Amino acid sequence: MFRLASAFFVSSACYATCYDRNYKVSVMEHPAKDLLMSRIRNQSTNKEDFVHYSNRLLHLLLEYTIGLEPKIVTKERAPTGGTYDDYQLLHDSNYAVVVILRSGVSMLGETQNIMPHITSGFILIQRDEQSEEKTPVFYYSKLPPGIENKRVLLVDPMLATGGSATLAIEELVKAGVKEENIVFINLISCEPGINALFAKFPKISMVTAQVDPILNENRYIVPGLGDFGDRYFGTE
Ligand code: URA
Repeated sequence: MFRLASAFFVSSACYATCYDRNYKVSVMEHPAKDLLMSRIRNQSTNKEDFVHYSNRLLHLLLEYTIGLEPKIVTKERAPTGGTYDDYQLLHDSNYAVVVILRSGVSMLGETQNIMPHITSGFILIQRDEQSEEKTPVFYYSKLPPGIENKRVLLVDPMLATGGSATLAIEELVKAGVKEENIVFINLISCEPGINALFAKFPKISMVTAQVDPILNENRYIVPGLGDFGDRYFGTE
């Protein structure tokens, strides 16, 4: 894929805010981030406001991610006659978004708004609530045809232990996706999860809005925001 005319060159923004030099992790910077993040962290925020502020933050996060992707750069002319460097993303058809069900659904609509031609896949992974470790279990996947030749945006708003993301990436790799073509996008991650994930898949990239320090005994991110899916979908 990515066949480019020789007159073009491809620019890829570096993963500038590296959490660790060995990992391709970029932590989003945006002046509105702390305001929006505070609203979704706050335990008094109701479901409607949680959805509203999450969606605004997710929009910024997805645009930020796109900004890091490889681009085609050419010299073009503006209506004034002046020339400028014209940046274009590879066509959406080179991309698939893969949603980790259920919370990842919150990131699908906005990804489709930004990339209307993107194809979508779904992976269902759930914690085994009976087990002491709350081990994640793989249930189902439906991936778009040709995914092995695409860049894959894997979306799930929370990276806690890294267990679900690990199972999802294993499924993508089994389907032929190259590890280096996987970009895992989440809103809040934590250091233990990042370490676990990159120990297994050192070639993926990750974009997050926030890295929190710890997990509690129930494997929730602290401070985190509680259960993202329950707060976003109004369940308990
Ligand atoms: N999933 C969530 O929704 N919240 C966490 O803190 C961890 C996993």
